[in-house]
Amino acid sequence: MKHAFPDNFLWGGAIAANQVEGAYLTDGKGLSTSDLQPYGIFGGIIPRVSGDSYIKDVAIDFYHRYPQDIALFAEMGFKCLRISIAWTRIFPQGDESQPNEAGLAFYDRLFDEMAKYNITPLVTLSHYEMPYGLVKNYGGWGNRKTIGFFEHYARTVFQRYQHKVKLWLTFNEINMSLHAPFTGVGLEQESAKSEVYQAIHHQLVASAKAVAALHQIIPDGRIGNMLLGGLMYPLTCKPADVLETLQQNREWLFFGDVQVRGYYPSYMARYFKQHNISIEITAEDKVALKETVDFISFSYYMSGCVTADEELNRKARGNILSMVQNPHLASSEWGWQIDPDGLRILLNELWDRYQKPLFIVENGLGAKDSPDTNGNIEDDYRIEYLNDHLVQVAEAIEDGVEVMGYTSWGPIDLVSASKAELSKRYGFIYVDRDDSGHGTLERRRKKSFYWYRDVIQSHGETLKR
Ligand code: BG6
Repeated sequence: MKHAFPDNFLWGGAIAANQVEGAYLTDGKGLSTSDLQPYGIFGGIIPRVSGDSYIKDVAIDFYHRYPQDIALFAEMGFKCLRISIAWTRIFPQGDESQPNEAGLAFYDRLFDEMAKYNITPLVTLSHYEMPYGLVKNYGGWGNRKTIGFFEHYARTVFQRYQHKVKLWLTFNEINMSLHAPFTGVGLEQESAKSEVYQAIHHQLVASAKAVAALHQIIPDGRIGNMLLGGLMYPLTCKPADVLETLQQNREWLFFGDVQVRGYYPSYMARYFKQHNISIEITAEDKVALKETVDFISFSYYMSGCVTADEELNRKARGNILSMVQNPHLASSEWGWQIDPDGLRILLNELWDRYQKPLFIVENGLGAKDSPDTNGNIEDDYRIEYLNDHLVQVAEAIEDGVEVMGYTSWGPIDLVSASKAELSKRYGFIYVDRDDSGHGTLERRRKKSFYWYRDVIQSHGETLKR
């Protein structure tokens, strides 16, 4: 395929602390909201008692095995690795004034290991977790005080890693709070919309404050937001379906609009009124929000369809994702509809809307892998998925979109976020561990490992259109 990717394109992979590290109470780490969701985002909130044990407590033991894993990423030629810092390693309860040195030291070692191989770190401040202490004692992001605790945390890690990390992200998939309030903003799952939007507002202010702090502490650094790219198509060309699609896309684009433009978009006033939502936005908040991100990052796995037809919607709500199925697309084993063209469309739409550099920081196929009799994993389905999406990234670049990089989700098998499964594998590297925690944790290269290595080495020329 013709060379479309720029020479400085950041090829790599993305992982998150709570899905790989394990060591959930090691070296002074506090309990996080993720630790209270041992069965994943959709598995309920489970109080922890001494002696209990769950899959994420060990995860893939990245906390101890990272040198070996970074070496494997380097072997694939990674230019970039997206990781997240577990906030609870730095501030175990969230409200301490002094950070936990052992937690800070862990990420120092990790960044040093990456530096050995010239792998650029891209670091998310909060990936689907926050200190449970802030939830229990303050009510999570529902409380304005959490803005200050987060800013203190952000400033602490910016100071500490200012010479090692230049690329940062604030909150992972910030728009997910609308569907998973405990994971996103530390509120009860059944919270009223007003409470959720108030907490979201606090988080948006905190995100802007982190942007300001980054610009002050690391002037040559760049910081982005992170959106779940929830691209929706109208199910039909009926104007009512098209209008409903516009509204649903605005539900997630709202977050980008605030973080990129620096103020609430005008359409939100009507939305709030129609849904009886009233939130407190102070004059200081409005000033804080004016500090906008340097680039936009997003995840993309699938697209969905929207209809104004109540009967079809009622049926769709029975599905986990409550989206109407697109009759023109195939689905993954987990029912996620595969749509490579959607990635090109999304890149173009975000570029047209914001005119800021874009970074695809998650994309990939969750699938069951079975080693053959020789222990090899021939994951052609994963290669096909990634190939087809990367081809569309190249198309978007040719369309004129500025794309900074691509970090595929889960370059090494990890624990899934939604249901804490290990059988839902995304990796180029197989990890010997199953859903019930059995396995040696041994790492093994899959067929896709060599495929991705060649793609990176050839700057995308080995991709097949
Ligand atoms: C994104 C999250 O929503 O999707 C990741 O940022 C997550 O944390 C990924 O792992 C895939 O979802 P899942 O449920 O398959 O792990």
